[in-house]
Amino acid sequence: MTDIFDFSPRVDDYAVMGNPISHSKSPLIHARFAQQTKQAIHYTAIHVDPGGFEQAVGNFVASGGKGLNVTVPFKQEAWALADERSERAERAGAVNTLIFKDKKIIGDNTDGIGLVRDLLENKKQEVQGQRVLVMGAGGAARGVLLPLLILQPARLLIVNRTAEKAKDLANAFADMGTVAGCGYEALAGQSFDLVINATAASLQGELPPLPEGIISDAGACYDMMYGSEPTVFMTWCQQQGADEVFDGLGMLVEQAAESFYLWRGVRPHTNEVIKSLRQDIK
Ligand code: ATR
Repeated sequence: MTDIFDFSPRVDDYAVMGNPISHSKSPLIHARFAQQTKQAIHYTAIHVDPGGFEQAVGNFVASGGKGLNVTVPFKQEAWALADERSERAERAGAVNTLIFKDKKIIGDNTDGIGLVRDLLENKKQEVQGQRVLVMGAGGAARGVLLPLLILQPARLLIVNRTAEKAKDLANAFADMGTVAGCGYEALAGQSFDLVINATAASLQGELPPLPEGIISDAGACYDMMYGSEPTVFMTWCQQQGADEVFDGLGMLVEQAAESFYLWRGVRPHTNEVIKSLRQDIK
């Protein structure tokens, strides 16, 4: 409790909640942002059991917590728990950032803007006017569609093993631009300037069934996963002659930076954090 004799500097509490959570890089990333921007914050990782999310958030708020990141498998629950949501969170159907303000829970989703910032600012990749292929139709794909479509690609095709899911997802975003959905067999003979892997395939070391020639000359590829080694998708893209191949480490740091900005009103420099994380994971 703070009283008039307490002169200790105030430190605001933040955390990431998920399950599993021990692997999370978020505490490290936010500690580096805090150091760099001289913000007095304390950021921890909290393991939450299935069914315990709402209670865990309630406890965190009651103890004075200012904001949370939310990761697998609680992003949909966080969406439902929020009193107010940003448009990008509303559309994503998932929330990865909670802000506790004026007794309200505000939900946002910074995943899509994280991808877009990494593509545009760090990787100098155009999206406007480009033919973009998004692989996968689960939560990861859904979370990045609005920020990608805002950039007005010439076309955005969602491809998924279960073609119906890709079509349904495309329909849900049809008011935002030229977007369609299909199964992998429909990709034959087509090519794209930017191919984004938003499937869970890399986690299992699997390669979605992409046809030869899917990457245009000078085309770029982006896997939203990352690891110490290139994913199978990245290796395949290199073999296919892709001009540039990226993993999702930059997206991870950029989505964190956007959350930090929402909470603190200060935008951290991400380049040095991406570089040092790259060293750490090697
Ligand atoms: P997330 O929230 O990470 O997107 P998800 O909602 O379970 O997780 O979705 C996983 C996505 O990866 C789905 O689009 C899934 O395809 P299906 O809908 O057809 O199942 C896709 N996926 C998973 N493993 C894959 C693989 N080996 N090849 C291609 N797509 C795969």
